[in-house]
Amino acid sequence: MSANAIIESIVMASLSFGYSQILFFNTLNKVRILPPTMVQIKVEKGKLSQKNTPLVVIGIFENEQEFSQSRELDSSLSNTITDILGDKEFSGSLGLATILHTFGKGPMKKIMLLGLGPREKFGYETARIAAGKATLKAKEIGLTEITILPFSNLDESLLEAICEGIHLSLYSFKRYKTNDAEKASLSLHDITILIDSEPTKFQSIVDKANLLADAIYFARDLGNLPPNECSPAQLASYATWLSDNTPIKVRIIERYEMESLGLAGIVAVGKGSNNPPKLIILEYNGAEHDQKPYLLAGKAVTFDTGGISLKPGEKMDEMKFDKCGGCVVLAALRAIAALRIRLNIVGIIPAVENMPSATSYRPGDVIQMYNGKTVEVLNTDAEGRLILADAIAYGIKTYNPLAVIDLATLTGACIVALGANIAAIIGTDRQLIDKMLRASNLTGEKIWELPLLEEFHDQLKSNVADIKNIGGRPGGAITAAAFISNFTDKAPWVHLDIAGTAWTQDGTYELSYIPKGATGFGLRTILKFLQQEENRTMERR
Ligand code: BES
Ligand code: MN
Ligand code: ZN
Repeated sequence: MSANAIIESIVMASLSFGYSQILFFNTLNKVRILPPTMVQIKVEKGKLSQKNTPLVVIGIFENEQEFSQSRELDSSLSNTITDILGDKEFSGSLGLATILHTFGKGPMKKIMLLGLGPREKFGYETARIAAGKATLKAKEIGLTEITILPFSNLDESLLEAICEGIHLSLYSFKRYKTNDAEKASLSLHDITILIDSEPTKFQSIVDKANLLADAIYFARDLGNLPPNECSPAQLASYATWLSDNTPIKVRIIERYEMESLGLAGIVAVGKGSNNPPKLIILEYNGAEHDQKPYLLAGKAVTFDTGGISLKPGEKMDEMKFDKCGGCVVLAALRAIAALRIRLNIVGIIPAVENMPSATSYRPGDVIQMYNGKTVEVLNTDAEGRLILADAIAYGIKTYNPLAVIDLATLTGACIVALGANIAAIIGTDRQLIDKMLRASNLTGEKIWELPLLEEFHDQLKSNVADIKNIGGRPGGAITAAAFISNFTDKAPWVHLDIAGTAWTQDGTYELSYIPKGATGFGLRTILKFLQQEENRTMERR
């Protein structure tokens, strides 16, 4: 080859490389990563009587005529408000909002009276709901900046809850709206939380809440992607993108490698699709390398048709949300890295598309799973447990984790048992379950334990293999977990079935801070759990 030819080939190669890079980033950038649309929250020390603002939000408890800030207002204003409260025109029920104009009687242009519900029921969850309502109302009337007075004695958790309510209520998924006006609808860009003490220690809480909200936006964006724009390969690209921008290492295990490793459950479920399965592994080292990691596993079925055991057509579109467990794990790693959690954490996400075709796995097939156990497939729609079982077994073998937490839209039976607002928690380790339940109490993500009694294993007995992949209708959410427990070895393990809570669906209660679509459910609780583990670990040092 002549020197010219060599140079030419280098130029061509770098051009084509550059071009593919550009294409690559264009597709990725469509999913907002650091959303330019996120509202800015700041904590400011100051007096209501001097706060120049388009609107100030004042929280009012249900059926109370007094409000603590009345002395700071011009007397004609506070009298007007007292009249409104006395007249029962405004009851103060949770989330109710009334706006009055001050007509120059104060530095604020408007006042929003915001119902906080009964004082005795007030807590972080009501604060989240109320803050979300106030934010949405302010946005609806086109305000660009507002001020909020803390609803009660401000502590760090209350501030965190208020910030969550603000950010999470403002989320919306506009990626496929071609109308620019609708796209650029975030006019509200500044929210000040006015307090009477030193703001410095509070500002760091706000900063952390921003990072958490950013990760939830990421989880929701990924979850909301339509199935034609989120194949296992595309999901893997998002993971790779994440690792390019954070101290997270990513490894994508391809199908051929899964075949030689013996990850037969993932391979089998992925066989029917032209979009090959990917096993996405994310490693984050926030502690010494010899510290055992926590393993987070997330089901990512990018679309679940049921396969040969085809689902009925009604609402099948919602099975694009069958990837939400995996999306939450991906986003959890984003938050973990942003918050620099001082623990080692591994995320493992089996990503597949469950399709019917000539190459699909079938009812009757027997597969030998990664840990050697054989499974008789009796329903190809019970695919989530197959891919999770392999991913978890592989994760435990490879990383020897301290604890395993999996998140999965695993069973319709979970929705039958607990409805669409509560996730099931099922596991093999009492302490781990209790820690997760405690974390969920703080985040407001409701979870309820279902019992993993020995008897449920009887429902999984197979005539031909070690176990079968379905256990019949009775206790379906539990038999699914019992199935997975065959693959968790001795590792402490909990499973969250988020079938009802991963997206808003039939039976979802309206909550200001949970807009339509993917919810990001589980992320805040897992993060709270990890932060508490981090604190405990640091104390022990
Ligand atoms: N992804 C579904 C579970 C699901 C269904 C979640 C509806 C949310 C809403 C899962 O893969 C599935 O199909 N499970 C089957 C299991 C059955 C065949 C044992 C189910 O729940 O019907
Ligand atoms: Mn299924
Ligand atoms: Zn599924």
